[in-house]
Amino acid sequence: MTPRALSFGVLLALATELAAASDATVPQGLATFNRQCIACHQSGGKGLVGLAPALAGTLANLLAMEDGRRYVTQVLIHGLSGRIVSQGQVFVGAMPTQLPMSDDELAGVANYLAQDLNGAAQPLFSGADFVQARAAVTTHKQLRELRERLPR
Ligand code: HEC
Repeated sequence: MTPRALSFGVLLALATELAAASDATVPQGLATFNRQCIACHQSGGKGLVGLAPALAGTLANLLAMEDGRRYVTQVLIHGLSGRIVSQGQVFVGAMPTQLPMSDDELAGVANYLAQDLNGAAQPLFSGADFVQARAAVTTHKQLRELRERLPR
């Protein structure tokens, strides 16, 4: 490799690394939310009765627990359907899997939910959490049962 090709390679690697790192941040997560989630969960995650539950102010207690964070990563990877109750409202919807998104993009949107919409003081998710969620075998029924056990 010529020195020039080498430095180009190093720059490219650096740029790729920076891009990956920034995908997990809240500003990236907000952009992802506004592209992928807003149609159902509405602006600022306020939700819409009959369509999709609120994500703002509804997840703080759950996010404080490891099982709750695991629940969020698995809902994003595996989707969710069937009857749930949120803020006294019944939803029988279908949350589509977000499988095509990268792990860092998913961490970014989850950190946006945690920090901007539910008051977490620091990022709670990294790309590695989504590697685990992808490997986990679970059903929507199991996810709803896990949800029932979590604090609200
Ligand atoms: C097509 C509509 C739709 C889209 C797009 C969508 N969701 Fe959902 N989401 C839902 C529905 C509906 C539910 C509740 C599922 C049920 O009724 O079983 C849900 C549930 C959730 C939950 C669980 C909430 C709880 O109270 O337990 C989270 C977290 C969530 N969605 C995050 C997201 C994020 C983040 C995105 C974007 C990356 C997204 N959703 C995109 C419809 C959607």
